[in-house]
Amino acid sequence: MHPTVVREEDAVVMIDQRKLPAQEVYVRCRTAAEVAKAIKTMVIRGAPAIGVAAAFGIALGMRKSTATGTQKFAADFYKTCELMAATRPTAVNLFWAIERMKRAFAAEATAGASVEQIQERLDREALAIHDEDVANCRAMGAWGAEVVPADARILTHCNAGALATAGYGTALGVIRGAVEAGKQVTVFADETRPFLQGARLTAWELVRDGIETTVITDNMSGSLMRGGGVNFVVVGADRIAANGDTANKIGTYTVAVLAREHGIPFYVAAPLSTIDLNTPDGSQIPIEERSAREVTHVGGTQLAAAGALVWNPAFDVTPNAFINGIITERGIFRAPYTESLRAAFETEAAVPS
Ligand code: MRU
Repeated sequence: MHPTVVREEDAVVMIDQRKLPAQEVYVRCRTAAEVAKAIKTMVIRGAPAIGVAAAFGIALGMRKSTATGTQKFAADFYKTCELMAATRPTAVNLFWAIERMKRAFAAEATAGASVEQIQERLDREALAIHDEDVANCRAMGAWGAEVVPADARILTHCNAGALATAGYGTALGVIRGAVEAGKQVTVFADETRPFLQGARLTAWELVRDGIETTVITDNMSGSLMRGGGVNFVVVGADRIAANGDTANKIGTYTVAVLAREHGIPFYVAAPLSTIDLNTPDGSQIPIEERSAREVTHVGGTQLAAAGALVWNPAFDVTPNAFINGIITERGIFRAPYTESLRAAFETEAAVPS
């Protein structure tokens, strides 16, 4: 599979996730503005992938800057960062990646670096963000595999896979890690209305990997759990507040409540870049609302009655009490999350032996 997002000399290239699985089309973004548009319109989506795309977009934009002096170059840089920050509000990885690019910029600028030296540093920083994301996903996979049952019937929601990251995936990384560890795994993929990330993207990825996958519509998970069809739930995250409250794709909260009711372990898999210690709890997480058309139409076909009002929040918040553990690249963290998540940032990077 072509990587989710790659930086080329004069472009950022990404697979168009709006068109999968029917078509495998690649979009070449030749400017930072084109990258920002691709994020906003969900050519690329998924919290870590959005962060990587933004970093590549900033580096590309600064390569194309016509500024010769550092002052004008700095003005261009901060404008480009603003452009990226205005794309999607919930996934904190976006803002985390922008901050990292700003720190890299500031380090060079303070040292008196030339425009070309700063450009080189921004390229390196963006590439590091990309490469670290793949390594983090693999580490999450190794940690997460330890808590997956030997004979696993796993439910996941949305797409937290290779497509949502720089590669391998967070929740799907845990599933891949469990398969690599020799566990018997079958997966139930919630369809994930309205954008259908589960039916279109998760099923596409897992089937290509040879992992048995059953697509269900979102309203089937309760019945499936009640009948004993699921013994483990793992999902990704867009932003985890300091107390462990977790924003993820709309419908995740419903799944968490159902899992609790049926005594099924519910895990969140996410890199530390998704944990936002500056947001104290879930009530402070900004929830993106998207267009009514995503709900009323599928492709060109109108499903909902014309004239009906539409509510289309892209994410919901699962309170920490519903989460058995948060799987990160540094291990699995558990309640009380306010202490454990803070400590996670001081833990040495490691993978289970
Ligand atoms: O609106 P999306 O498709 O960007 O939402 C994606 C999700 O909610 C994912 O579960 C989350 O970003 C984690 S991706 C590893």
